[in-house]
Amino acid sequence: MRGVEAAIAIWGETRRGIFLSQALRRFGEDLVEGERQLASTLVYSGMRRYSLWVDIVKSFLHRPLESLVPITKDILILGCAGLLEIKHFFPQALVNAFVEVAKKKRPTDAALVNAVLRRIASEGKLRIEKLKDSPNLFDQALLWGLPHWIARRWAESWGMELTKKLLIAQIIKPYLSFRLSPKASIDEMSSQLSKRGIKNWKSPYFSYVLRSLSFGHPPSIIGYSEGSWTPQTESSIFVSEKVVSLSAGKRRVLDMCAGRGIKTGHILEKTQNTIIEAWDISKKKVYTGQRELERLGVLERSVWKAGNSLELVPDEAPDVVLLDAPCSGSGTWSRHPEGKWKLSASKLRSYSRLQRDLLRRAVDLVAAEGIVVYSTCSMFREENEATVGKVLCSTPDIIEIEIDGGDFPLQRGRPFGYYTWPSSPWVDGFFLCVLMKR
Ligand SMILES: C[S@@+](CC[C@H](N)C(=O)[O-])C[C@H]1O[C@@H](n2cnc3c(N)ncnc32)[C@H](O)[C@@H]1O
Repeated sequence: MRGVEAAIAIWGETRRGIFLSQALRRFGEDLVEGERQLASTLVYSGMRRYSLWVDIVKSFLHRPLESLVPITKDILILGCAGLLEIKHFFPQALVNAFVEVAKKKRPTDAALVNAVLRRIASEGKLRIEKLKDSPNLFDQALLWGLPHWIARRWAESWGMELTKKLLIAQIIKPYLSFRLSPKASIDEMSSQLSKRGIKNWKSPYFSYVLRSLSFGHPPSIIGYSEGSWTPQTESSIFVSEKVVSLSAGKRRVLDMCAGRGIKTGHILEKTQNTIIEAWDISKKKVYTGQRELERLGVLERSVWKAGNSLELVPDEAPDVVLLDAPCSGSGTWSRHPEGKWKLSASKLRSYSRLQRDLLRRAVDLVAAEGIVVYSTCSMFREENEATVGKVLCSTPDIIEIEIDGGDFPLQRGRPFGYYTWPSSPWVDGFFLCVLMKR
């Protein structure tokens, strides 16, 4: 099983700080589709509930996990994730595949890998069943794959019922939503995808969005290079669509953290006369953002600047500012599970300070009677209502505007803004707040 070997190599890369998606792209290229899917399932399952697999492996080891060399630890953790998460493989075949990798990479540990994984295959589920029955918050955090301090923080902010939803959301397997360009026909695209075996149907929220059961590499899917569609989660689409409706009749939009230009491209595709000034601190993202707009054929209505948005100066005062702020990404952890294991309380505080400073700057820059749309993909109130609250308190000429989400599942923040709860493979967690300068 080459997928198992690739999964171990990908996992090793993430220990060196590379994103799963990036490493998967690199190592997955030479694999046939079935093996690529196996590698992807193993590494994402491994990362989503990392602390659970470590806990289970430890319970079957007669020596400290920390005393093993990294490659043996990786084999045991991914082997455990595979055995307890993948339903369609005969467990013995999976154990054998991991033992084969151990024989190649660390022959002296192959017998240990065989013994531990065999026990996990026969007894590991019992540990999971026990955790399922426990009412204890930390047992639940372990079961669903959330660091304890975050579970405690969310339980204090949201109460147990909503925290349970956030816990379960950790293991939702994400799939692609296709945001179609105004030039593309949804029925035509749908039938093209079906012909290629990609099951798809219309989103219940947006007339120009198709949902799929694919998590394939977008550039290899039909129509991508021609700009016919863009992969974008439906929560993110909701934010940029809000900017489109709020900028009706207005010309100048400033996208203060444009990143790779996903929302920038959407706004430009849906408007005719709007000009976007797009900023990002990362030169590499600015380059990628420009290529993204080129792909969509809307680059000429944008002006890009690489630099710190706390210091850059717009060519003209913007009528609308989108601040899609850097954040913990906690609403998207099922898609990017590495984030939760890297986050610390002090990192969260530093996000919160940066968000407050960026929002103050957004409010300073926007023209009189202009609009600021503040969004994060975070479920921490520190990054959302608290940020908005601090800026509203210190800026008397700013008010919050209520918005209508239509059918989109919005929940009012406490007391500012709106949340979308992470609830399906196409809808991540998001926060959005619209402010107006009087
Ligand atoms: C949530 S991402 C933006 C995603 C983007 N709006 C999109 O839809 O594709 C936040 C971005 O903020 C950028 N960033 C972080 N600190 C910044 C700063 N001080 N000034 C400008 N950009 C910053 C990051 O490089 C990152 O691309």
